[in-house]
Amino acid sequence: MNEAAQFYNPEQCRNEAEVESKFIVQYLLPSLGYPPESWHQEITFGAFRLDFLAIAGNVIGKSDQLQVIFEAKHPNQNLDRHRRKLRHYLSSLGVRYGVLTNGKMLRVYELVAEELELRLQVPGREVPMHLDQLRQLVGKGSIEVLPDQDATPEPAIVTPDHPTTLVQSLSSSSTEKTMKVIAVYHNKGGVGKTTTVINLAAGLCKKGKRVLVIDLDSQANTTFATGLVKFQDESADNIKDRNIYHVIIERNKFTIPEVVQKSSFTFPAVDVIPSHISLTTKEAELNDSPQAQTRLLSKLNEVRDHYDVVIIDTPPSLNIFARIALLASDYLLIPSDLRPFANEGLNNVRTFLEGLNEFREMMNRQPIEVLGVLASKVSTIDKFIKHTLPKMEKLVEERYQFPLLNTRIYERRDLSAALERVVELGDLDIPDPQSIFDYKPHSASAEEFEALTKEIMTMTGL
Ligand SMILES: Nc1ncnc2c1ncn2[C@@H]1O[C@H](COP(=O)(O)OP(=O)(O)OP(=O)(O)O)[C@@H](O)[C@H]1O
Ligand SMILES: [Mg+2]
Repeated sequence: MNEAAQFYNPEQCRNEAEVESKFIVQYLLPSLGYPPESWHQEITFGAFRLDFLAIAGNVIGKSDQLQVIFEAKHPNQNLDRHRRKLRHYLSSLGVRYGVLTNGKMLRVYELVAEELELRLQVPGREVPMHLDQLRQLVGKGSIEVLPDQDATPEPAIVTPDHPTTLVQSLSSSSTEKTMKVIAVYHNKGGVGKTTTVINLAAGLCKKGKRVLVIDLDSQANTTFATGLVKFQDESADNIKDRNIYHVIIERNKFTIPEVVQKSSFTFPAVDVIPSHISLTTKEAELNDSPQAQTRLLSKLNEVRDHYDVVIIDTPPSLNIFARIALLASDYLLIPSDLRPFANEGLNNVRTFLEGLNEFREMMNRQPIEVLGVLASKVSTIDKFIKHTLPKMEKLVEERYQFPLLNTRIYERRDLSAALERVVELGDLDIPDPQSIFDYKPHSASAEEFEALTKEIMTMTGL
């Protein structure tokens, strides 16, 4: 190694691009023995976009164990926030080792029994002193095939000359087509749940996903926000006899296709199961009926081939409708404005989840997977963003032990205006809400929801 390489200090990288180019491309990969043809940058598998994938072995078969994923982050980024995504990449793609670095710190993780184990952590400036250790762990030719990994995805024929073979093999093993059900829930009111449901649904729809939205809140805000309430008085109410309550209470009637309505709050149109104010009077009845509590889950199972993703809006409460939503879901997304009461409410969410997961276990269902807390309705005041927000985000992760999503949704007038849109018809104002993508596709809010859509797609393998 030349002298310059011995004294290289990645802590001088100023941004993510420098971590990628100066540290990983120019220093780390060559130092670990990877020639340029043995690694790929910006490689995409379905919804995954990896910064680097290096091929440590040069073999036929068992290749997935012989790859290393390198992820570069901005020097200001806390690596803890990216562990979860790395675990997801490794687990979904069947790769054993991942390297995560922001220049200031470098970590090597190994995926063992679906969990990440930290194998090495080195401050950036000390990387040159630890190259031998790094080479042994993730260097070219270092990784051995585990004998007990026969159950991992189809072996791929991989040589550095055939990156496309690798892409095809990995994408087919990672894009298992199953419907994902995501509940958007927090027991604190007004934190942006409904706004998240609407715009995330639109974002996914615009990515070509087949989306179903379910409103399980008796306030019916999603039903309003998807423009299904066109009537002015009760006599014209066309929802009261065909809504989510009927799906839940009736065993043999009111299947999902019978109850869905097409909504044009976004383009292409999305299927929505509406809610109704009358749900408030049904709580006692549903509390006494364990069968009804799992009926949404059973009916969703009947439409697994019709949708890629189902997004459920929930009430700001710990009530039976929240329970039904979370029993039917695979994933939970928790929007929060990160204000004091919203943060404290996370304790209630945790306790609620514990009881719920016990019930799921009895049903032979995995615990619900918490995608994390989504910072939502975040004030754009500079002082708040600089001083209060980082503290609040830290509290979520450290005190309340919930992961945080990378995306933040800021408080912006465009978002509420899009959902409050009306069209005039004679003397009448008819509600005509739109998603932010349809209302102002080039706005900051549309960009934020685009980022959220991508993040959710990556996390859920959509
Ligand atoms: N990011 C945002 N920027 C501006 N306004 C927002 C934003 N998010 C939500 N709002 C507005 O805040 C209000 C509450 O939002 P929303 O209905 O999404 O919250 P919620 O958590 O679903 O409330 P509830 O608990 O009552 O169901 C609405 O008027 C909405 O338009
Ligand atoms: Mg709501």
